[in-house]
Amino acid sequence: MIATATKEFRQRFNREPIIISSPGRINLIGEHTDYNEGFVLPAAIDKRIIYAIALNGTDTCNAYAMFSGESASFSLHNIEPGGDWINYLKGVVYHLQQKGHEVKGFDCVITGDIPIGAGMSSSAAVEGGLAVALDHLLGFNLTRMEMARIGQLAEHTFPGVKCGIMDQFANLHGRKDSVMLLDCRSLDYQYFPFSFSSEVKVVLVNSMVHHSLASSEYNVRRAQCEEGVKILQQVYPSANSLRDLTSAQVQQQQHLLPAKVYDRCLYVTQENERVEKACAHLQRNELKEAGALMFASHEGLSKLYEVSCPELDFLAQLASQRPEVAGARMMGGGFGGCTINLVETGKVDAFCEFVQEQFRQRYGVSPEIYITSIEDGAKVELAVEAVA
Ligand code: GLA
Repeated sequence: MIATATKEFRQRFNREPIIISSPGRINLIGEHTDYNEGFVLPAAIDKRIIYAIALNGTDTCNAYAMFSGESASFSLHNIEPGGDWINYLKGVVYHLQQKGHEVKGFDCVITGDIPIGAGMSSSAAVEGGLAVALDHLLGFNLTRMEMARIGQLAEHTFPGVKCGIMDQFANLHGRKDSVMLLDCRSLDYQYFPFSFSSEVKVVLVNSMVHHSLASSEYNVRRAQCEEGVKILQQVYPSANSLRDLTSAQVQQQQHLLPAKVYDRCLYVTQENERVEKACAHLQRNELKEAGALMFASHEGLSKLYEVSCPELDFLAQLASQRPEVAGARMMGGGFGGCTINLVETGKVDAFCEFVQEQFRQRYGVSPEIYITSIEDGAKVELAVEAVA
């Protein structure tokens, strides 16, 4: 991919680019907890967006996306939301400017192998990759967390998804063979070696249903959680977010909450409790126990949080029938995308064949399957001198 992007860049722009690689992410457990100030357990993976990019000495940003064959440009002055993938680039540049950084015009070619709309956060990879590129080219000296914040703000104000920080965080902080426990309130994080990596593979199965978080359901969930907190503050005045409440407290106050709001709050508080338990199990190498919490997470996402879909439920259920699967659940925002499955190494082929056959019989399409590895976060792969 690097060679293809470099070649395309040279042909289009007639000079040498630098290369940035910017990964997608998985999340073992802790879904829809990030914007509730809770915990998540993500990692960066070997699916990535590649940027070939260089400054162009003008006030215009020009981009060519190899995955869609489209070019798009925007001026550095008065950046307005709009467009498809280019909207993420605009958002990053705009928020860099808002923070007082003097962005200069650039040319770039973007390619990659993160499936779009599959819950691996291709959008955070596009945002993080550009932030790393501009930081490198223009010497902003941003911290990784500052870049993650800029990506998150871009997402809020350009495509309009009120996302948490997990995706941008994972994209920019990933470390090979480690998962990260992030406290989304304090932004403290810890790396855990993913010591099972020889025992299990992280297998993503694509439901082939393309989700669209921007299509408002994501923002509705967030609003329902906030509504729940407001109501529960009558009883627990010091609770600032669902992070401050236990699932038992939510259950005790069920009578105060509208039915859907209750379900959402119960799910989030239970999921936070599951993340903490899962971490304890992972540290003790208790894979089965951690896996059982992943299945429980899926159940909650499907029944209480209602962000699953029949195809994802079917995939999670198939996985639960297989002894080689320690745990599985839908991953990411939901309404489509992938399940994440921890599958015993050596039995991965059998698992994939089983799932593909069953899914094809039920839905008439073969799901794509990605056997992933845990890799470093977004980085400069080649600085300009090395490209030639
Ligand atoms: C999307 C968002 C994240 C997070 C997940 C659900 O990926 O971008 O911030 O909320 O959904 O866990």
